[in-house]
Amino acid sequence: MLATILHAEGLVKRFPVRDGYVQALAGVDLVVRRGEFVAIMGSSGSGKSTLLHLLGGLERPSAGRVLLDGMDLGRLSDRELTLLRRRKIGFVFQFFNLIPTLTAHENIILPLLIDGKRPAEQARMLELLVRLLRLEGVLDHRPDQLSGGEQQRVAIARALLTQPDVIMADEPTGNLDHASGMELLEHLWSSCAHLGRTIVMVTHEAKAAIFADRVVLLQDGLVIDQVPLGRDKPRDNARPLIARLQELGL
Ligand SMILES: Nc1ncnc2c1ncn2[C@@H]1O[C@H](COP(=O)(O)OP(=O)(O)OP(=O)(O)O)[C@@H](O)[C@H]1O
Ligand SMILES: [Mg+2]
Repeated sequence: MLATILHAEGLVKRFPVRDGYVQALAGVDLVVRRGEFVAIMGSSGSGKSTLLHLLGGLERPSAGRVLLDGMDLGRLSDRELTLLRRRKIGFVFQFFNLIPTLTAHENIILPLLIDGKRPAEQARMLELLVRLLRLEGVLDHRPDQLSGGEQQRVAIARALLTQPDVIMADEPTGNLDHASGMELLEHLWSSCAHLGRTIVMVTHEAKAAIFADRVVLLQDGLVIDQVPLGRDKPRDNARPLIARLQELGL
């Protein structure tokens, strides 16, 4: 049995709004094991991004707790949390979050620089990612000189470069053409299967979710089902997932 790397218990998240609050998560329990590839699906507004932000310590829950590698994130100060994120988690956000004044290359290596590491330490990984994500021609472009798909690929390279324990990705293929999306998923899948990375990926596409070992289904801030998928290729198990998604109207 693989060791637990992420453990969420009774996660509730409420956002204050003008006349009360919005409850984005209503009590989520989730266990992710080291080396697992988990997809999170659910309709728009079901709480997927919120769950990812809490799992990654970007936001704090209103109730419940998150254990990352046995560490209770709620017990860490903001500064400790920042350090932990930088060292252990690679994020690919829904809206990229690139620094507008830096080039693509500078954006990719930024996490290394912030952590006081020399980019040369990861030169081979950088080369591999730039080739895989086809960023050779745009490394000296700033974000406003990149297409949406290129911005997304830069964000992915940045998240993968430090080879973090856990990669958290919010719709990572949303802006990619079909072929690049599949290539990226293959890469995520093999970084899990062969390098022991753990991946939590939010997606609304079944064709992306079938790369995962397990699909967690969210509705109104609750986990309503978990669909295990095989790890072997080809993924014959797409059919049960698609059937379940259709039942749920997703
Ligand atoms: N900062 C916030 N302030 C107020 N409400 C919020 C905030 N962030 C999220 N919400 C609300 O919480 C709910 C869940 O949002 P969340 O972004 O997690 O959904 P999602 O499943 O990621 O949706 P999508 O597929 O559209 O990205 C939504 O109703 C949303 O409007
Ligand atoms: Mg979202």
